[in-house]
Amino acid sequence: MDDRETPASARLELVQRPRRNRKSDWARRLVREASLDASDLIWPVFLVEGEGRREAVASMPGVFRLSIDLAAAEIAKAAALGVPAVALFPNTDPALRDETASVALDSQNLVCRACRAIKEATPDIGVITDVALDPYTSHGHDGLLAGDEILNDETVAVLERQAVTQARAGSDIIAPSDMMDGRVGAIRAALDAEGFQNVQIMSYAAKYASAFYGPFRDAIGTNKTLRGDKRSYQMDPANSDEALREVALDLEQGADMVMVKPGMPYLDIVRRISETFHAPTFAYQVSGEYAMIMAAARNGWLDEERAMMESLLAFKRAGASGVLTYFAPRAAEILQGLR
Ligand code: PBG
Repeated sequence: MDDRETPASARLELVQRPRRNRKSDWARRLVREASLDASDLIWPVFLVEGEGRREAVASMPGVFRLSIDLAAAEIAKAAALGVPAVALFPNTDPALRDETASVALDSQNLVCRACRAIKEATPDIGVITDVALDPYTSHGHDGLLAGDEILNDETVAVLERQAVTQARAGSDIIAPSDMMDGRVGAIRAALDAEGFQNVQIMSYAAKYASAFYGPFRDAIGTNKTLRGDKRSYQMDPANSDEALREVALDLEQGADMVMVKPGMPYLDIVRRISETFHAPTFAYQVSGEYAMIMAAARNGWLDEERAMMESLLAFKRAGASGVLTYFAPRAAEILQGLR
């Protein structure tokens, strides 16, 4: 007898062999539970003043701050790849930032001009605008500051007007990322009073005070100016039940969609929210998550493309309706079979 033959005694009598369903590509595809599609991707885009400007964000290889003309062109390409929506984030000229975030209410600010340009160039992509004051405040906080305190109700009064200003510029989805109490209801009422019944609200309902936002703050230029931290309004990373309460409040107040942020370290929260509320639930794969994958890949420690696609699929498996991700255009290209 040939030594290399499997001895009969080593053959297990198994009825269940889960590996049978993994025996080939077609068999794996047949039983696959979650799927990722270009329609699941929302692309966050950083904006900067000027024309023909494309500035690299050092901590986010492959990500650029774009002037409106270039952003509109890139966004048209993303739409052609099947990306349904983009989220805009401005890097405001430091000279224009002040204590009260006055530029947030300027109909000619970077985000409003970008909104108009993008909707004109690509009417059939959804434009999401962030409602929060941090790109506009000299202190880098999402709300108005009095001493060490972030004022809640006074901030909400400004956010309502910021939301209406963005809706007038053509924003399709208002995304409050500030975590003030009661802002969703107040924004809904303000939008409705101005005739914007069809403008949706995607609330950053469970947004954590996270270390993973660092590169984003580089991108919009708030890292150096931020005084203190955001723990008095963003959630404690230790909490999970509280996320459900936050989501319940936002849905009651009129949120059409909710978001969990950051993404990968909070997949348990995505799962609980999607199972509890059955409402459109998005996850934000934030700047620090992007930076980690890219840094490891650039060192040759991870396969960049595989890590990217696996990380995105994980959100769908956890129950997310979609993902905000800096990988959106690249992932869409792969999903469309173009790469
Ligand atoms: C602030 C805001 C932040 C992000 C989106 N909106 C950062 C913060 O709360 O400081 C982070 C996104 C990212 O890290 O990719 N309104």
